[in-house]
Amino acid sequence: MSKGSQERTDGAPNRSRRQFLAAAATGVAAAGLTTANAQEAAKGAKAAVANPKNLPPNVAGWSSSLGDGVQANPYGKPSKFEKHVVRRDVEWLTASTESSVNFTPLHELDGIITPNGLCFERHHGGTARINPIEHRLMINGLVDKPLLFSMEDLKRFPRYNRVYFLECAANSGMEWRGAQLNGCQYTHGMVHNVMYTGIRLKDVLEEAGVKPNAKWLMLEGADSAGMNRSLPLDKALKDVLLAFKMNGESLREEQGYPLRAVIPGWEGNMWVKWLRRIEVGDQPWHAREETSKYTDLLADGRSRRFTYIMDAKSVITGPAPEARLPGKGRNVLTGIAWSGRGTIKRVDVTLDGGKNWVEARIDGPILDMSVTRFYLDFDWDGREMLVQSRAHDSTGYVQPTKSELRAVRGVNSIYHNNGIQTWLVRSTGEVENVEIS
Ligand code: MTE
Ligand code: CO
Repeated sequence: MSKGSQERTDGAPNRSRRQFLAAAATGVAAAGLTTANAQEAAKGAKAAVANPKNLPPNVAGWSSSLGDGVQANPYGKPSKFEKHVVRRDVEWLTASTESSVNFTPLHELDGIITPNGLCFERHHGGTARINPIEHRLMINGLVDKPLLFSMEDLKRFPRYNRVYFLECAANSGMEWRGAQLNGCQYTHGMVHNVMYTGIRLKDVLEEAGVKPNAKWLMLEGADSAGMNRSLPLDKALKDVLLAFKMNGESLREEQGYPLRAVIPGWEGNMWVKWLRRIEVGDQPWHAREETSKYTDLLADGRSRRFTYIMDAKSVITGPAPEARLPGKGRNVLTGIAWSGRGTIKRVDVTLDGGKNWVEARIDGPILDMSVTRFYLDFDWDGREMLVQSRAHDSTGYVQPTKSELRAVRGVNSIYHNNGIQTWLVRSTGEVENVEIS
């Protein structure tokens, strides 16, 4: 799909985030803001009219002639009827596409794994295109022997396969001051869930020999942003991986090819992509991304810092603003839940804005620090509904309401918003992002 076809034609002016937040604060926020998705959905609806020639008892066109041979598509692609299933950005959100974000189309997915081509991208200096033959990982600082590894060297360490979610700390960040973006792709799409293959950072550090006074690591990327973050040594030794594969194939360039850090359960910003250097030290570096950014400004002017762990969260991905209910009768409600502190133990769903809750049916693998899929199979009488989901994790933590969260954190931050999301389902089946608590 060309960039042009995603351009806003809904009349909403291009606005900077600052202007947007100011508007939100004065209560004239873009209520019911439509998105490119709504237009796509409308187009999809037109295209969805079936040609009777292809319906029984006729023999459909695709059954009456030979299909394509092997190698018509050497690297497989989705059907052309799925071309609306793409990552999307919000043009006015950031000043440039190189320091920006696009969003995972959660409403189009099922199960727990995010396909590689649909994993949201977030980067601060554009996607680095790295020749793996020329890529090196340096380990230096408080170590017995500084080391320089090629990709080949790294692949000789024992390998591990783990499924983990990655959520940007800014996911749902635009919703702190009220319902803003009318689509679950935009409100919750800064999350993906992937099976990584990689090696343990612990094993690599052992090779270099960490000095006894070491406490922190600094992870640095080879992109033009040279993005870096301080990582506590304890976490590095516990479960951090250096990954070179995602869902079985090499990392996508957007996701850090040829090497990225995997920091299970912790905010996406820590997962340094295009990883080129790890320095061992005895204190944090206080890098840009852990001082002016990725800190949570509280109502009293103090900031929470080093807020690494992503708390339990969930969202209903269908019905959702981009996934209307087809009609009365049997329907499937579905969504995803995840926690940076362990596994998902239970998900509750309400259809009446929190008056009554029922336990959703979880199906598929329930893995540590991974997305978990839930369903509610229900009969709809066509009445308006306020649907919400609420995740419980293995530590006993329960996903808070947005007002509970605001009472503690205020509304200044854009990070760590894991409040309960509400969708209003109208009797027509149309869905809207609203807030009731
Ligand atoms: N690593 C480098 N080198 N440069 C970056 O800009 N962005 C970070 C992190 N790692 C970033 C990076 C942020 S803020 C997030 S949320 C995740 O990568 C996003 O990972 P993804 O692009 O695979 O979704
Ligand atoms: Co991020």
